[in-house]
Amino acid sequence: MSAGSSAAATTEFTNPNLEVLFNAGQISERIAELGAQITEEYSDKELVLVGVLKGSCVFMADLMRAIDLPLTIDFMAVSSYKDGTQSSGDVEILKDLSNPIRDKDVIVVEDIVDTGLTLSRLLEILGSRGARSIRLASFLDKPEPRIKKELKIDYTGFVIPNRFVVGYGLDAASRYRNLPFIAVVKDPSAV
Ligand code: IMP
Ligand code: MG
Repeated sequence: MSAGSSAAATTEFTNPNLEVLFNAGQISERIAELGAQITEEYSDKELVLVGVLKGSCVFMADLMRAIDLPLTIDFMAVSSYKDGTQSSGDVEILKDLSNPIRDKDVIVVEDIVDTGLTLSRLLEILGSRGARSIRLASFLDKPEPRIKKELKIDYTGFVIPNRFVVGYGLDAASRYRNLPFIAVVKDPSAV
């Protein structure tokens, strides 16, 4: 079956409002590096990957398969962007973890850190639950609009400029999460 690759190419070529920033090959190479690093650093730990829904779902799926350890996974859902591209500043917990993280070594898995407001609030909440350690993995780091300057990203996929991007889990008005690449939206008002 060759439907997957031709569908990806079609999506890319038929949307003139998208400009590819990282293609699927570049992404999988980087994920392999991150996975190897985490495998090495967590070999004697009780690793729990906590994915932040929905944006991290694709990164989470690829990253966990690049880590050669007996890890467990869990998910949280928070809402910070309502619809469109503007941050509301509010962080609402929509879904909490299914299992306790007491005495576990947690890596929070995010799609992108922008202002850092979402992650800071989330780390505050998780920080009170007795985990042995909590680190942060973000597929993308967009440092320019950062408000929470003190936020430390331990594992970063790519650092990007201050542009609105979609694909590989990231959405614009709930669409484009399924794109197998990261693309800049040239005109966000036309999404
Ligand atoms: P922050 O709280 O400003 O760091 O934003 C966190 C959330 O905003 C991310 O988890 C995304 O869901 C969303 N977000 C920020 N920048 C982008 C972008 O360029 N494209 C899509 N979503 C974004
Ligand atoms: Mg997110």
